[in-house]
Amino acid sequence: MCGIVGMIGNTGAKEVLLKGLEKLEYRGYDSAGLALMHENVNVHKEVGRIAALREIIPAEVDGTIGIGHTRWATHGVPSVPNAHPHQSTTGRFTLVHNGVIENDEIIKKTLDVPFLSETDTEVIVQLMEKHFVELGDVEAAFRKTLSDLHGSYAIAMIDSEDKERLYIGKNKSPLLVGLGDGTFNVVASDAMAMLQVTDQYLELHDGEIVILTRESATIKTLDGDVLERAPYTAEIDASDIEKGTYAHYMLKEMDEQPAVIRNIIQHYQNENGDIELAEGVRELVSEADRVYIVACGTSYHAGLVGKQLIERVAGVPTEVHVASEFGYNMPLLTEKPLFLFISQSGETADSRAVLVEVKKLGHKALTLTNVAGSTLSREANETMLLHAGPEIAVASTKAYTAQIAVLAILAYDIARANGKKLPFDLMQELALVATTMDSIMAQKEIFEELADKFLKESRNAFFLGRGLDSYVGLEGALKLKEISYIQAEGYPGGELKHGPIALIEDGTPVITLVSQPNTHLNIRGNIKEVVARGAIACTISMEGMEHENDAFVLPRVEPLLTPLVTVLPLQLISYYAALARDCDVDKPRNLAKSVTVE
Ligand code: G6P
Repeated sequence: MCGIVGMIGNTGAKEVLLKGLEKLEYRGYDSAGLALMHENVNVHKEVGRIAALREIIPAEVDGTIGIGHTRWATHGVPSVPNAHPHQSTTGRFTLVHNGVIENDEIIKKTLDVPFLSETDTEVIVQLMEKHFVELGDVEAAFRKTLSDLHGSYAIAMIDSEDKERLYIGKNKSPLLVGLGDGTFNVVASDAMAMLQVTDQYLELHDGEIVILTRESATIKTLDGDVLERAPYTAEIDASDIEKGTYAHYMLKEMDEQPAVIRNIIQHYQNENGDIELAEGVRELVSEADRVYIVACGTSYHAGLVGKQLIERVAGVPTEVHVASEFGYNMPLLTEKPLFLFISQSGETADSRAVLVEVKKLGHKALTLTNVAGSTLSREANETMLLHAGPEIAVASTKAYTAQIAVLAILAYDIARANGKKLPFDLMQELALVATTMDSIMAQKEIFEELADKFLKESRNAFFLGRGLDSYVGLEGALKLKEISYIQAEGYPGGELKHGPIALIEDGTPVITLVSQPNTHLNIRGNIKEVVARGAIACTISMEGMEHENDAFVLPRVEPLLTPLVTVLPLQLISYYAALARDCDVDKPRNLAKSVTVE
């Protein structure tokens, strides 16, 4: 949550920083701010999007050093006083921060200065000034300030008396240094923000600071010891992060799903067409007596499908846990547990907290993520990448299908390691899935009509299914509520009569998936039950199980892989419902894509 950028150079930093913030808006977008230093430090802040911030910065204002921030409020409402950057009382230090300081109230009591905001960030910058007055040295005061903080932070700071340095610090919140051509350097929460000026990045670890000049980036520990680290090349294609001719990133990302599946097939098979995983992953999975999947949001829903795949294909017991619950409610663990973290961003704080905990207990972890070099990837023993390309829309689509495809590949590899008979040719079936996805995406107008008919005016909606279909229903309900603000619930069909059916009344839309051969007759019974109580049924079935009045019939795919195709109609219906209701599809209210606070 929250995005940070910074630059120290010889030419105007304003445009680079604003463009960088636009690329980080997926991290939070309730308010934004920029501090630019040429002779003096100029701070501009505005509530709303980066576009609103752009409007209020006078054309003549620029600077060679700057820091910027796009906010997702944690401490205090979105407002100009609470927006970053924050300044110390004398104006000497100006700072942006992403994260949550847990001991801010305690520190605040020790600071005898007026506070202008409700934020924990202002506490940091005032503490910085206090330590500077005591120590007389900016770097020492910066290190001492960060040592005093408990919690998570990514920080960039300007000293108004020093035009040669930017100060950077990181603990548990993502932050990277981007290396320029010797005349400038930059800093950002995510490489995407600064691809416009560099593809060379320095990874930062928790508890490190960086003294950034135009020509150098010196990494130090909080004790002041200098660390050496080689830069890496960010392998993101700049065109991947542009919307192109698409109206929304979400639409582009939904359309990319067939190509992502083909990409995954390519990455995980050898020249003989066999599944090939890294040696380290093989070892991890072959040792495990139980898999514990830990994830949040859409990734958790992919995990539910993953459990079915691993249990049914590989025969290894698997549990799925919501990350934010796991740490406080840890189940009994087996002797050789394997922790499987699923996270599109690889930065989700709730998941990371569990990873830290299980590592302390000496357990092994594998991360499935879309972002190479992300925190969850670095800190786990092994990583399997999703190869989905950057996902920018807040509502996750292609990452979900990529997660399921990679989970299927993992399940197959575990099965092979355990000498199990493989039920079907996975790579061939995945190729068929990609073709089926193409055909669904070519019929978008049908889902636009369904959204118009069933959801445009609706207050609520239900998603039903049985088995794998019920898990996809949960994802469909999440998608719809995230972007259209319609109250939506996903239920296993049989559970409806145990309570939720009380909510069915005349006109309640009930979207049902029918793709599971072993339960398709049962779910038809559930549809009848809701229709008898006034619901309007929108049924999406699979060939061989279709009925005359079904809204859409999907081409047949392997029953275990149906989530890869049944989710597409639900994603599309949600997208078109949000459009019909005039919602901001890519940036829904109150949400953020990368949730880096617990
Ligand atoms: C946020 C996003 C969701 C996402 C979840 C987990 O809540 O809005 O779309 O599913 O985080 O994110 P992760 O990056 O760990 O998959």
